[in-house]
Amino acid sequence: MSMVITNIGELVTNDAGFGKGRLGIVQDAAVVVDGDRIAWVGAASDAPAADARIDADGAAVLPGFVDSHAHLVFAGDRAAEFAARMAGEPYTGGGIRTTVGATRAASDDELRRSATRLVTEARSQGTTTIEIKSGYGLNVADEARSLRIAAELTSETTFLGAHVVPAEYSDDPWAYVSLVCGPMLAAARPHARWIDVFCERGAFDADQARTILAAGQAAGLGLRVHGNQLGPGPGVRLAVEMGAASVDHCTHLDDADIDALASTRLDCMCADGGHSSTVATLLPGAEFSTRSPYPDARRLLDANITVALATDCNPGSSYTSSMPFCIALAVREMGMTPAEALWAATAGGAHALRRDDIGRIAVGARADLIVLDAPSHLHLAYRPGVPLIRRVLHGGVPSHHLATTPDRTEGLPS
Ligand code: NIG
Ligand code: FE
Repeated sequence: MSMVITNIGELVTNDAGFGKGRLGIVQDAAVVVDGDRIAWVGAASDAPAADARIDADGAAVLPGFVDSHAHLVFAGDRAAEFAARMAGEPYTGGGIRTTVGATRAASDDELRRSATRLVTEARSQGTTTIEIKSGYGLNVADEARSLRIAAELTSETTFLGAHVVPAEYSDDPWAYVSLVCGPMLAAARPHARWIDVFCERGAFDADQARTILAAGQAAGLGLRVHGNQLGPGPGVRLAVEMGAASVDHCTHLDDADIDALASTRLDCMCADGGHSSTVATLLPGAEFSTRSPYPDARRLLDANITVALATDCNPGSSYTSSMPFCIALAVREMGMTPAEALWAATAGGAHALRRDDIGRIAVGARADLIVLDAPSHLHLAYRPGVPLIRRVLHGGVPSHHLATTPDRTEGLPS
């Protein structure tokens, strides 16, 4: 079935060669979707006919959000830990073991129901692609089942057996590294596209992280790193050394980290000037929820490093599935312009997942789009905490109406 979205006041294409500015904005536009792909983009006055029609009535239409970092397969709740932090306790990552206990004790169905609920919650806030990590099983069987469940919900699955060293290996972390690189990786591999390591004091040091990433790479997985979250450290430079697609958090960076990320820049003939091949993914929900200083996005952007924004949705350090919330934080607290933040939450996430079929609205791309209940993308940060997502098209399939202002449709089931 084909569908035309017409009367779009502001269309964000992320195609700088097509529209205005880095967001490639086109006014008074229309988009035609055919099956799960975008078939036509242009002026509303030229729009071809289609089987069904959504009249956006002057609203903004954007690419669906790409949340490239989330931990959704877990059981239990750590609200009390959050309350303690708000009363002045620091975040150390120590609570991860609490979630590991609850996750190991949960049934497959409990884990599936909770992860599905979070994906649905994210979708209703405009997320059309979500990466999901394991990392709360930390033994062979529970890491493998976490990834099996994640793979039911997304193709962007990440093996994070190296989240922390579980209690039973406290006395011999290298024995745990061997388990991760051997039987655990073998069991995870059929369900995972990526491997990730938490390279931080209290988790895995540079040698351990390098060993684990190299094993994952040899098994055919792409690389991701959690680095420089709680303090300065080797995570960013290790990610660059190993050719990781993304290094995530990047809260504590020194000049050498910035230079390393900038050195991965791929100069191409793209209209928007090329990208760094290791993306710096910023997770402001974690700084919000741990009451920590935010990363300096300006410093990364001014060095022409590709920046992505993601939620880090997890029960400990960032229990939000909302990309609009992260955009608002990035604008208000991290020195990003609304346009930079939106780009980072869409095209930036696509780069972090090394995907070129998502994060943009162009002929041939996946039909993943959001109709906002607002006339421009500026409202995402200007109206924080407000449900501004009117409709989501995911692979061309429109959600039911989500917001307060009705749109006018023809040919769609109501
Ligand atoms: O990305 N940094 C490590 N892992 C998660 C936190 C997990 C937790 O506290 O449960 C993060 O913030
Ligand atoms: Fe994380």
